[in-house]
Amino acid sequence: MKRFEDKNIIVTGAASGIGRATALRLGEEGGKIWCVDINMVGAQQTADEIKAFGSEAEASTLDVTSYDACKNFIDEVIAKWEYLDVLCNIAGISSMVRFEDETAANFNKMLAVNLLGPFNLSQVAIRHLLARKGNIVNLASVAGQIGQAYTSSYVASKHGLVGLTKSIAMEYGRQGLRANAVCPGAVNTPLIGKINFPKDIEMSLIDRYNFLPWFADPEEVAAMVAYVASDEARYVNGAVLAIDGGISAG
Ligand code: NAI
Repeated sequence: MKRFEDKNIIVTGAASGIGRATALRLGEEGGKIWCVDINMVGAQQTADEIKAFGSEAEASTLDVTSYDACKNFIDEVIAKWEYLDVLCNIAGISSMVRFEDETAANFNKMLAVNLLGPFNLSQVAIRHLLARKGNIVNLASVAGQIGQAYTSSYVASKHGLVGLTKSIAMEYGRQGLRANAVCPGAVNTPLIGKINFPKDIEMSLIDRYNFLPWFADPEEVAAMVAYVASDEARYVNGAVLAIDGGISAG
């Protein structure tokens, strides 16, 4: 399939995990991909892999929490590419902590990366996306749909991201711009490996977040992002797409 020929696409979090898999998938399908991450080495590696199979790719270091940096970045993209079709907000962080031990600093950091980041880039890119009747894909989580013990800040950030996605979808849908949220359960990426479980937690409260006996691979999530970002999904707007093995079903 070559659903992204002539499409200019930004992917954040492109150095690792789901962002990397998405950049590779969209590039494989003919898209021109701008790989963005705070990890420049990883972003460049992903861009080089995309170029190796014949698509165009760029890489930039960007901290999505900075509005000014996001604005300068979009200016740079438009100066070089002229137009933008798809923005995939995938960069994110997570941590696990009891609510009573959570700090305001960590809460703010979680919201800055997972919610303010997509806000920043979406806002500075919106007029360019509107000009192409493009779309935004926000990588939320099952934690954007249901509550989860020991991850209150993460859950708050992802619920916020789902709300932001739906609001953009409502505000701009009639002008031809779509915005959707993809909500995975557990995916085999470094993010999961880095999570430290707090001591003496009630495991029965978190058992249900691993409903199937296996995790998803990042490529499976990338396939869903590719569908919703493509013209095949032109009637999919404001949707919250679960890929969670059934966790959010009950
Ligand atoms: P990952 O840790 O493999 O990749 C995240 C990437 O985001 C990293 O390359 C990191 O450098 C980048 N990043 C972090 N802060 C940034 C910032 N301020 N500016 C720019 N880039 C930044 O994690 P993974 O698993 O691929 O996560 C991707 C997204 O998927 C996240 O939004 C995460 O919340 C979401 N997600 C992941 C799940 C999982 O089980 N792995 C489940 C549900 C959602």
